[in-house]
Amino acid sequence: MRSAPREASPRRYLMCPPTHFQVTYSINPWMDPAKPVDLGLALAQWEDLRDRYRSLGHTVELLDPDPGLPDMVFAANGATVIDGRVLGARFAHPQRTAEAAAHRAWFRAHGYTEIREPEHVNEGEGDFAVTASYILAGRGFRSSPLSHDEAQEFFGRPVIGLDLVDPRYYHLDTALCVLDDAADEIMYYPAAFSPGSRAVLARLFPDALLADEEDAAAFGLNAVSDGRHVVLPHTALGLFGPLRERGFEPLGMDLGELLKGGGSVKCCTQELRGG
Ligand code: ARG
Repeated sequence: MRSAPREASPRRYLMCPPTHFQVTYSINPWMDPAKPVDLGLALAQWEDLRDRYRSLGHTVELLDPDPGLPDMVFAANGATVIDGRVLGARFAHPQRTAEAAAHRAWFRAHGYTEIREPEHVNEGEGDFAVTASYILAGRGFRSSPLSHDEAQEFFGRPVIGLDLVDPRYYHLDTALCVLDDAADEIMYYPAAFSPGSRAVLARLFPDALLADEEDAAAFGLNAVSDGRHVVLPHTALGLFGPLRERGFEPLGMDLGELLKGGGSVKCCTQELRGG
């Protein structure tokens, strides 16, 4: 039985165009510098995503791309914003280090006053996901477990640490997506997590939508929801039916060129919450 349609709520996102996107190094298993990137196509796919958000009534803010930072299109990694408070990022790999300062400068220039330069490695919303009750926090590949305490103290919200165990799902947002942040509704790929973390997720989110291997590998969990529309890679076909069953409206996007960098919809989208 289908549930009633959901309510969308207007969002504000920060994105960075892939003007200088390239795969010149490999810091995750999806990146192969030998595979050429079609920059024109990457840009067109990214513009489709930006326009899709705008057509849904959301606000998209833009960060200036830096020619020396080819991964900057993955704006989700640059900070985490909740209640208008900004926890900056600290990247695990030197190739991306300078992105953190670019994000902090953007927030300063846009009137944010509570901006923390973090002590511990955290890759922003790559590893932090916000539900109604918790901040879910990934660790194992990028963000330091110590960053979880730092986030809990800074935001004053309970942080649930989750161990990622499969290098293909190196960020939490490649394996888990918040579907309704006014409730505690998520979808995730169980095999990306340690047995203990899987048990924690099953306990906290007994009604979660579980993705299978194929949809996870299509980056189907790297999705963005406004409470009604779930924007996700168009190839994650197995998720469309179950999302509709729950009253969501799945909207498929082709971000195939950006997948060569190991990212998709969510990686390109940082949510600016409150403030
Ligand atoms: N090439 C980038 C990296 O490996 C991709 C980041 C994807 N972003 C994300 N939120 N998962 O750091």
